Amino acid sequence: MKFSAPRGTKDILPEEAARWQWLEAQFREQCRLYGFQEIRTPLFEETELFARSTGEETEIVTKQMYTFTDRGGRSLTLRPEGTPGVVRAYLQSGMADKGGVQRLFYFGPFFRYERPQAGRFRQFHQAGVEVFGTDGPQMDAEVIALLLDFLKSLGIEGAVLKINSTGCKVCREAYREALRKALAPVLDQLCEWCQERYKGNTLRILDEKRPSCRALFGDLPSILDYLDEGCKEHFAGLRAQLDLLKIPYEIDPKIVRGLDYYTRTVFEVSQPGIGAQDALGGGGRYDNMVEEFGGKPTPAVGWAAGVDRILGALFDQKKNKDVEEFLLQIRRHHAYSLSPKVFIVNIGLEARRYILPLLNALHNAQISAIDDPLGRSPKTQMKEAAQRNCRWAVIIGENESRQGIVKLHDMESGSESDINRDNLAQELRKRLAEEKKATTE
Ligand code: HAM
Repeated sequence: MKFSAPRGTKDILPEEAARWQWLEAQFREQCRLYGFQEIRTPLFEETELFARSTGEETEIVTKQMYTFTDRGGRSLTLRPEGTPGVVRAYLQSGMADKGGVQRLFYFGPFFRYERPQAGRFRQFHQAGVEVFGTDGPQMDAEVIALLLDFLKSLGIEGAVLKINSTGCKVCREAYREALRKALAPVLDQLCEWCQERYKGNTLRILDEKRPSCRALFGDLPSILDYLDEGCKEHFAGLRAQLDLLKIPYEIDPKIVRGLDYYTRTVFEVSQPGIGAQDALGGGGRYDNMVEEFGGKPTPAVGWAAGVDRILGALFDQKKNKDVEEFLLQIRRHHAYSLSPKVFIVNIGLEARRYILPLLNALHNAQISAIDDPLGRSPKTQMKEAAQRNCRWAVIIGENESRQGIVKLHDMESGSESDINRDNLAQELRKRLAEEKKATTE
């Protein structure tokens, strides 16, 4: 083979695609319940859009973007995250002018040039939501509840919610000063990465994982001690709402997240035990971005969840239990079934004349059906019908062709009956309706 998928990307093959469709359907259903509407933005945007919002100093912008110059000389970037594009579209489309609260969701691929490892890819997928127009902590709790309901609808167990407040510009600056003061005595012993952060977005130092640096940190001040009255009240409001919803959470003052735009609430949901990349989703409030993009001051809050990681966690988790049963449950729903209802077994050239009209009649009657275009032996065709778990085999040979009939073979009971060729679709619809009635009675 001459080619393989680029490093950090993967193919989603039919077997796995059924799980993806199922996950997306659960996400859409939760969004529908919460009154969110879908938005689809381009996969690439002007590079400047991300530099200005995600943050000039963030790892995403400095190291991870897929940036290219197009033939017209424009600098474009494959979207590394969804929030800036959604804000741009919200403003550009005039949605912002409508006022009120806009609740949006998205689902699709994103791109970051990261070192691939379990749970981390260069093309990955996010399910995300963004809400514009309300600054109260109630919406923060509502979007968190939506994330947890989504994970619950997938059967994810044991996910941990961590929350924090990064305050507003004013309290963050006071905290930054305190942090710099606390770190100054050990600064020259810290790694290069920490020293860079110290100069710029000092709060990101809290993300440092190297034990050698962490040991030097000692007891760092907590941002929660630096919140001003408004931010303190907002954070208390969020906790009160989560308590009312009986949503368990941990307060973790070290959560700052790797993007620059957050104000006040930030949160992460992780799944302990799935490996180093255990963040299933994260988000927070970004009350300044709309204004920074030239809109009226508009508060906003949202999150994104990593679909590749969620499916990994889910199927690893279920593997320990009963993954086969779980997959069966998904497949039982016809939308995710990999099995056509009907397999047309054709024998001889004469029979082949009738295949397409038969398939067409079945498809028009909403019955999934395939044939064997290779015209292999009847035994091989029957074997394939069984392997594919088809409900019926429809056999058409020379005799049947001449008589205008087909043999309907029930793959479950093994019984066979002759059916007039023109009545096949009708007969199968009748049988499907009877089966449905029997299972619901
Ligand atoms: P983020 O924390 O950068 O936030 O990404 C959200 C989630 O996407 C992560 O928790 C993780 O599950 C998944 N993810 C990120 N990078 C990768 C990767 N390389 N491979 C696999 N999964 C990955 C954002 O993107 C923000 N836009 C969230 C947000 C929306 N904040 C406000 N609104």
